[in-house]
Amino acid sequence: MEVLTLVAHPQHESFTYTLADAFEAGIADAGHFSVRIDLYERYFSALVSEDEMRLWEVGAVPDDVAQYQEMLGSTDALALIYPVWWGMPPAILVGWLQRVLTQGFAFENGRQRTGLLEMPAQIIATIGSKDRPIERLFESYFSDLLGVFAYCGMHPHPPLACWGLNAATHESVRNDYINAARMCGNNLFSAA
Ligand SMILES: Cc1cc2nc3c(=O)[nH]c(=O)nc-3n(C[C@H](O)[C@H](O)[C@H](O)COP(=O)(O)O)c2cc1C
Repeated sequence: MEVLTLVAHPQHESFTYTLADAFEAGIADAGHFSVRIDLYERYFSALVSEDEMRLWEVGAVPDDVAQYQEMLGSTDALALIYPVWWGMPPAILVGWLQRVLTQGFAFENGRQRTGLLEMPAQIIATIGSKDRPIERLFESYFSDLLGVFAYCGMHPHPPLACWGLNAATHESVRNDYINAARMCGNNLFSAA
């Protein structure tokens, strides 16, 4: 089966890329394959234009979005791999979701359009701060995206949150996250 893996980081040497490689290795271990969409490498335009909103009114989308909808409509799973920036994914990824998951494609009239997007979904995120459950950082960082998945009828696995990443992070901690990302790829098609 196929996984569409979106990677959103401007630096190839980032830990986000390392985790993307590990995740895709896990997918391959399980006998599946990944199609990677590197949003920065593709110079994806995150901005919804006025013309684009006019197209929405007649149920249409621009060509670049149509291309991604075709890919998403024919894949079996979706993965988002990114760093947390001010509690959110990078703008380029938020823009991808806002432009590609349009009404009539990803959902219809407020009701889930299951069958189109009834697919497993996985978030893998790198985060600078340590986990702080009392401040409910996990909920704060992931509830919006999980809500988007749910609204579109997808079945998300729990996000892999890679906390406490900075220049001083010990190699053993990084290796644990790399192994966890690989397991996410391995288990993607197990029940979410
Ligand atoms: C613009 C910006 C905003 C950030 N905001 C947050 C934040 O809200 N919470 C947090 O814990 N870390 C934050 N960080 C730290 C990043 O999450 C961290 O540097 C990154 O995940 C490290 O992994 P990478 O090698 O994949 O970039 C921010 C970093 C940048 C550059």
